Amino acid sequence: MKLHVLAASIVAFGISATVAVAQSNEPIQVIKPPSQINLGMVELGKKLYFDPRLSKSGIMSCNSCHNLSMGGTDNIPTSVGDKWQQGPINAPTVLNSSLNVAQFWDGRASDLKAQAGGPIANPGEMAFTHTLALGVLESIPAYVREFKVVFGKDKIDIDQVTLAIAEFEKTLVTPNSRFDQWLLGKADALTGDEKAGYKLFKESGCVACHNGPAVGGASFQKMGVVSAYKANDKMEGRSAVTGKDADRFNYKVPTLRNVEMTYPYFHDGAANTLTEAVDTMGRIQLGKKFTADENAKVVAFLKTLTGDQPSFLMPILPPSSDKTPRPTPFSK
Ligand code: HEC
Ligand code: HEC
Repeated sequence: MKLHVLAASIVAFGISATVAVAQSNEPIQVIKPPSQINLGMVELGKKLYFDPRLSKSGIMSCNSCHNLSMGGTDNIPTSVGDKWQQGPINAPTVLNSSLNVAQFWDGRASDLKAQAGGPIANPGEMAFTHTLALGVLESIPAYVREFKVVFGKDKIDIDQVTLAIAEFEKTLVTPNSRFDQWLLGKADALTGDEKAGYKLFKESGCVACHNGPAVGGASFQKMGVVSAYKANDKMEGRSAVTGKDADRFNYKVPTLRNVEMTYPYFHDGAANTLTEAVDTMGRIQLGKKFTADENAKVVAFLKTLTGDQPSFLMPILPPSSDKTPRPTPFSK
């Protein structure tokens, strides 16, 4: 791994020099801001992300369940969908989701674009159809103009919608956490307890699964390696996609970036606190019982993974026209 030199400041004619040297060879790497972003597409995608007119009820947007004021989640065990339906699974954060090997707990969507069409047409989520959603967008002159500017085509199609949303999602990375500052060489960015927590996190074996820039998101792993996990649901994980028995109860390892904000935890949302999640992980993944003091240190470390949250002006959505089909929140 390359050694990054963060800051080298030569003071007063080179008499003294201070060099902050970055931590290399760590299992966790810094998150970088996105590069190569199409700004027009991002602005359009941001509007679509917040637009509840892509739902049947007219009140549900991507932001309803992936609230960017709350770590990109809904902070409830399983999501509430159209007509107050109880969702089957916990909503993962959209923050840093561009770093995931695949999307969803079982990885059934290969990337963000493939994912973005799903919720609009999912009867348990936004409960619309792609055709109806496109009809709404086509009826709003400002959208028609903006799609034309961004994609250069006369007609709006679902590919453009999902591309734009995915491009916006690529900007939802959270660099500059205290942990990243420490990785980059700022030795006092972490307290003694937080450093001790990171040491425990590494030495206990958490990094076998939670590693890389997202501290997860890179592989599918069994939930319950050492002892079985008694889930609050009947989900079977990755085997739903691969059909392989060996993949039963395998889930995408969640990112631990911003994990302090993304409670409750696990695919069934059963763990309300980080203390509980860390205790469960130690026991069922590693056969390790943390003392209360060790647990508190690991939790303290996990909280240093909260980075700069996405910050932008709330998008103002173009108004519907007389031709725009009206939402039907109460009809069957
Ligand atoms: C009703 C709540 C709800 C709405 C609305 C919703 N989502 Fe989700 N989202 C979820 C849930 C629940 C999951 C996890 C489903 C699974 O893994 O089976 C999810 C998963 C995702 C993921 C995968 C993240 C990961 O780490 O695997 C992304 C990305 C995402 N949603 C983006 C969106 C976008 C974009 C929209 C709007 C077009 C949207 N969601 C609308 C609840 C919702
Ligand atoms: C064998 C791989 C593996 C190991 C080792 C492991 N984890 Fe996990 N971790 C996972 C998987 C898979 C999930 C999601 C499981 C689920 O929800 O069903 C998860 C979930 C979590 C969550 C909840 C995140 C969320 O958003 O829901 C936390 C917190 C966590 N792990 C921390 C730890 C800590 C701390 C350790 C070390 C004590 C650890 N993990 C060890 C694979 C692992």
